[in-house]
Amino acid sequence: MTPGVTPIVAGNWKMNGTAASLDEIGDVCAGLDAEDTLPHETLLCVPATLVERAAAVAAESALSIGGEDCHAKESGAHTGDISAEMLADAGASFIIVGHSERRTDHGETDAVVAAKAEAVWRAGLTAIICVGETREEREAGKAEEVVGAQLAGSVPAAMTATNAVIAYEPVWAIGTGLVPSNDDIGAMHTFIRKTMSSRFGAEGEAVRILYGGSVKPGNAAEIFAIANVDGGLIGGASLKAADFLAICDGINA
Ligand code: 13P
Repeated sequence: MTPGVTPIVAGNWKMNGTAASLDEIGDVCAGLDAEDTLPHETLLCVPATLVERAAAVAAESALSIGGEDCHAKESGAHTGDISAEMLADAGASFIIVGHSERRTDHGETDAVVAAKAEAVWRAGLTAIICVGETREEREAGKAEEVVGAQLAGSVPAAMTATNAVIAYEPVWAIGTGLVPSNDDIGAMHTFIRKTMSSRFGAEGEAVRILYGGSVKPGNAAEIFAIANVDGGLIGGASLKAADFLAICDGINA
């Protein structure tokens, strides 16, 4: 954890969830509301089809709702795409950009991700900007080089500690049950902190850096205790309220 910053526990539902899943969101809200004080911000990023209904369920609670991607433009002839302004209108307060599944499935480059982050800011929301190396890149000793290049290309110059969150998600740890060692997570988060501080000064010192990739109730507390890990971005384990709330408890431990 970084002294003085409020950590974030964020879920990413990916392409999962229908109206039947809204009960899980209600259960997350109830679980958060049962706590006297919360030492973290809490966020669920859901498919665009659910943002408005999820935001309605979460309206009176400590839970924020986010989107998982947006188009860089505000409006126009882009069939099937959704703008940051539309997600804001539906009740989102955060939007994930540059998730590795978008980079891989949709060929999103660092420049595309940077344009999307600027779109998130244009809409007045917070961007969660994702970076992370593949297994081959790590085994070749290039993890920091790859992540450094992604940060340089994907994080626009107007970044602040309030308009952005960085998520480090090693591609090989996503959905695999594999997690880097605590030492490797710590080394990468320290590298990201140094990179952000040298480019952005005090804003880079304070920007939240989340770890993502196979975070579960059983490993959350030890991961969140690592220096410069300011919370997590949780995929599969965010789909069930009980698991997500147990991961949130890891911040207290
Ligand atoms: P898992 O937690 O399912 O590994 O997914 C991580 C992730 O990609 C969150 O964005």
